[in-house]
Amino acid sequence: MIRSVVQGCGAYLPERIVTNAELAGKMETSDEWIQQRTGIRQRHIAAEGEFTSHLAIKAAQRALERAGLQGSDLDLIVLATATPDLTFPATATRVQAALGMTKGAAFDVQAVCAGFIYGLSVADSMIKNGLASTALVIGAETFSRILDWNDRGTAVLFGDGAGAVVLRAEHGEGTSHDRGILANALHSDGRQHDILYVDGGPSSTRTTGFLRMEGKEVFKHAVVNMAAVVGEVLDKAGLTAKDLDWLVPHQANKRIIDGTGRKLGLPPERVVVTVDRHANTSAASIPLALDVAVGDGRIKRGDLLLLEGIGGGLSWGASLVRW
Ligand code: UT7
Repeated sequence: MIRSVVQGCGAYLPERIVTNAELAGKMETSDEWIQQRTGIRQRHIAAEGEFTSHLAIKAAQRALERAGLQGSDLDLIVLATATPDLTFPATATRVQAALGMTKGAAFDVQAVCAGFIYGLSVADSMIKNGLASTALVIGAETFSRILDWNDRGTAVLFGDGAGAVVLRAEHGEGTSHDRGILANALHSDGRQHDILYVDGGPSSTRTTGFLRMEGKEVFKHAVVNMAAVVGEVLDKAGLTAKDLDWLVPHQANKRIIDGTGRKLGLPPERVVVTVDRHANTSAASIPLALDVAVGDGRIKRGDLLLLEGIGGGLSWGASLVRW
């Protein structure tokens, strides 16, 4: 059977780092509150004139380099973002042009913090159906542009960044020992639309709007839905938590990450945590975390990884990947 096998990953973070202490100088918050409630110590913020596409292009170039491939080898780009450069066309087409890719298709998917899992699943399905053979999946965001800097309840939580993986069609045996994406699970529940949203858009207000969140409500759903979806994706692949080498979760809150790790019975050293350095970068958080753990040698070829994330919609999902 055809498997979508990861050939390389890459990431990019804007240069400017904003610490909790710097935010505490601008709004009524403290390093202590932010660290205790979320685990965040700092976040990267894009420079004036630095767009989501710029971050995405840099992450994509690094992923291609690690994969030993060029932009012209790609026949698919799926870019997960909730902060596109423009309302249209897809930010993915800017990345496509910059990488020198002239065949195939490039488009955006929008599932907010679950966007990378949605993007991986779409690319995996297209590869398995013969619609693509070499795909780039990117998560890239500039959430700093949609934050209400007067709302301390949300402004301290997010950061900017991008991460990417290159997938290539390869033949597998059809067993859980195959390298590549072994299973995906996706869900959304539109009844929870109003607990995490942006209060603007081209069709409603003609403005971009700001992020609004009922944090406690989202937290409750996150804990329950993450516990369910990690079990679901393991069942689909006929595996159990004991088979896992790494949990690479969406990085929104250390307490949610710890809860999911505990539910799986994984020791903390098997859970990749970057929320302290990157804060919540929405669709970029999982590939950014992947890049850190691959870069420092923790994640090795053949390891079994569980990726999971939840965000506005609500939308959530998980992917099981043999690296
Ligand atoms: O990526 C998409 C998914 N998003 C998430 O997963 C986020 C999920 N939610 C969370 O991570 C947490 O709910 C938050 C980190 C957003 C908030 O933590 P919490 O423990 O749920 O706190 P809270 O919102 O209930 O606020 C507790 C208190 C409030 O004060 P009172 O009413 O108890 O006096 C807030 O006004 O903390 C106050 N507060 C702050 N204090 C200092 C809220 N934000 C801040 C702040 N600094 N930045």
